Amino acid sequence: MDPAQIREYLEFYRDIGFDSIYRLSNDAPAALLPISMPSPLPGLAPDHDTLDQIRLDIGDCKRCGLCEARTNIVFGSGNEKASLVFVGEGPGADEDDQGLPFVGRAGQLLTQMIENTASKEGIPIRRPDVYICNVVKCRPPENRTPQPDEMEICGQFLFRQLETIRPKAICVLGATAMKALLNTKEGITRSRGKWHKWRDIPVMITYHPSYLLRQYNQQAKREAWEDLKTLLHFVYD
Ligand code: URA
Repeated sequence: MDPAQIREYLEFYRDIGFDSIYRLSNDAPAALLPISMPSPLPGLAPDHDTLDQIRLDIGDCKRCGLCEARTNIVFGSGNEKASLVFVGEGPGADEDDQGLPFVGRAGQLLTQMIENTASKEGIPIRRPDVYICNVVKCRPPENRTPQPDEMEICGQFLFRQLETIRPKAICVLGATAMKALLNTKEGITRSRGKWHKWRDIPVMITYHPSYLLRQYNQQAKREAWEDLKTLLHFVYD
C-alpha cells in the first residue's frame, strides 16, 4: 500500500468511530502473537498541514499517561518559517508552568548558545528566528526520560511540525531526540558534531543543554559550541 492508500484506509476507520488499531508483528505468524495493546491511530497529516492544525489535533491530549500530571501542553515556539529547528526531549517544570519550551535554566543556556555563537560568527539571528520544540509535549513526572510509547504517540506530532516547517536543518539536543528522529545505535558522544538525515532534512546532533549545565562537562560545552558553529554556518551562510 502506498502512503495515500494507508491514509485513506486509516481515515475510513477513524470516521466510522475506531480510535485504536492493532499492529501485527512481521516476525511471527499471527496465530502465535500474544494479544497486543492497541496503538492510538496516528495523527493523519492533512495535505496542507499547518502548525495551528497540528495544535488543534493535539487538543486537550489524553493519548498517554503524561497528561495526568501536566499543567500545560508545550507545543513549540519561535518562527514558523524557520530555517532551523531545535528538538529537545520534553518540558521540565518551568516549561510545564509557562507552556513554552526551553524557558528554564537549560533554556537560558540554549538561548545564550544560539545568540552568542551567531553574534561571534557574524550571523544575524536571535532565538525568535529559529523554532524550538520537544519530542514529548507534556512534562514527564520527576523529569524522567520519556518512555518509548510516549515518544511514539507524541512523535507523530513532532514529525508533522517538522514536515510543516521543513527547515534547512534540524538540531537534535541529546539522546532522546536523537532516538526519536534517527535510526542510529551509536551513543551521543560518537554521533554529535556529524551530519545525519531525518527524511531528507540534514540533522546535526549535539549535547542537551541540561547536560552542559553540569560543572564537570566543560569539554562537552566546547564541543557543543563547535557543533553549533558548524550548524549555523550551514544554515545561514
Ligand atoms: N529540556 C527539554 O528537553 N526541553 C525543554 O523544553 C526544557 C528542558
